[in-house]
Amino acid sequence: MSIKSKTSDLKRRMRDALKGGGTLAIEKQKATGKLTARERIIALLDPKSFHEYDLFVEHAAKDFDMDKKYLPGDGVITGTGNITGHPVCIYAQDFTVAGGSLGHMHAKKITKIMDHAMKLKVPLIGINDSGGARIQEGVNSLAGYGEIFYRNTRASGVIPQISVILGPCAGGAVYSPALTDFVFVVDKISKMFITGPEVIKTVLGEEISMEELGGARVHAEITGNAHFFAESEQECFDQIKKLVGFIPWNNVKKADAFPKKNPKSRKFKIDDIIPSDPKQPYDVRDVIRAIVDDSEFFEIQELFAANIVIGFARLEGQTVGFVANQPMVQAGVLDVDSSDKAARFIRYCDAFNIPLCTLVDLPGYLPGIEQEHAGVIRHGAKILYAYSEATVPKITLIMRKAYGGGYIAMCSHHLRADFVFAWPTAEIAVMGPEGAANIIFRKEIMQADNPEEVRKQKINEYKKKFANPYVAAAFGYIDAVIEPVETRHFLSHALQISADKSEVTPDKKHGIPPF
Ligand code: HXC
Repeated sequence: MSIKSKTSDLKRRMRDALKGGGTLAIEKQKATGKLTARERIIALLDPKSFHEYDLFVEHAAKDFDMDKKYLPGDGVITGTGNITGHPVCIYAQDFTVAGGSLGHMHAKKITKIMDHAMKLKVPLIGINDSGGARIQEGVNSLAGYGEIFYRNTRASGVIPQISVILGPCAGGAVYSPALTDFVFVVDKISKMFITGPEVIKTVLGEEISMEELGGARVHAEITGNAHFFAESEQECFDQIKKLVGFIPWNNVKKADAFPKKNPKSRKFKIDDIIPSDPKQPYDVRDVIRAIVDDSEFFEIQELFAANIVIGFARLEGQTVGFVANQPMVQAGVLDVDSSDKAARFIRYCDAFNIPLCTLVDLPGYLPGIEQEHAGVIRHGAKILYAYSEATVPKITLIMRKAYGGGYIAMCSHHLRADFVFAWPTAEIAVMGPEGAANIIFRKEIMQADNPEEVRKQKINEYKKKFANPYVAAAFGYIDAVIEPVETRHFLSHALQISADKSEVTPDKKHGIPPF
């Protein structure tokens, strides 16, 4: 055979493989509003950057007439490419081929690209659209998932792992995304659950639709399994591109530095954001926008546990992870979900050399039977653990309330913040003045001729003594009391001088966080 005929044979083979599940299956995919696996990769990666591997991999299954079936690429596309110039390894399950189900060779393709990602130390992106374990391949399918979960765990904290759910992701298959760093979902397209509506109906007699059980909104708002929610696949790809711009490729690199930009000071003025009444709420995201470059804040898990805000922004061109109480939602209290949300993000930033800025304004941990029984002790401990363990630069700003356990938990000096700043509006105390006065002056209030008058007096007395930053400053728990307008300047300087921070940690295999 001449080179020419061998080349045309290659082209023919490629054409066949690139047909995926064929015209009918592709039409069915499109009718549900979904792109095909290959279209998704093309839409996400930089133009012409995708290089596909293992196109000619075929399954070797024989049972249930599988030996008569040709499954192009065995239902998954794998390769490498770039996102805004950053190298990535990627796989996308092709639902048009046997429902994207995961058989032995399908799993081998995925684990091979995962191994590449680890060797090359670049982010891994997995696009999930699959009916789960390929039923005809039995235990080999289960083994394939096990191999993926193992690699997800080994890669955790070494390379960023991003899961995109663009179709069904059911059964044990959901545990790969759950082990990764960021999960993206798209409205009406993503479905994640351990057992579907049919099984639930059979076992428990409960009826629920797939959307209500494990649709995108459910995971973005209620379970917290998803970090980013989008209305369309294109919006989802734009979110991924943005995220990749903020994070480093691996755990020995730092995130790319960008040109410095001032905040949009006409739109976001700190003095206009914070109300003079300390009980009035405000949107802490506007404070972040007033501080950071170009006022650009990329929020993560925006719809889940909104009483705490997490996300990335840049200060003087450098990526910073922000953790901030949100006074607009439940006064910014810490509870089970907000502690989980913040703790995981803190650990991500620490693993990937991203400095942390913590903005504090909270009345403490949320009291109540529901929270106690939901395990607020164990979940609340996660945030203490995550901050104490983190060795990246940690800068804290106390804006208003920092009461009780909330003061300690939100990256106080005691958990080894490198710098703690406070505005003159900060109030640092064991609890709010009203609660405190009622307890410590109870007898005097009760015995007074005019208890209400005395209560007010005692509250004011307590406020004068403790509802300010100066007692904490006198003990050195605060490094500087600063004017709000000086915030960007102080935070930027603190980050700049902490750039080469190093800390010796105790010799151990690993800690045992309160998972
Ligand atoms: C083999 C599968 C498959 C599977 C779908 N297909 N799931 N083939 N194994 N798990 C095939 C179908 O036979 C069909 O093939 C094609 O994919 C498209 O599927 P449809 O059912 O026509 O599509 P749709 O109506 O959109 O429904 C999608 C679906 C449904 C909801 C995902 O296919 C479904 O319920 N599949 C089974 C889901 C499941 O229970 N999986 C096992 C989970 S347990 P043809 O040839 O007709 O086009 C699990 C354990 C993992 O994953 C444990 C890890 C620890």
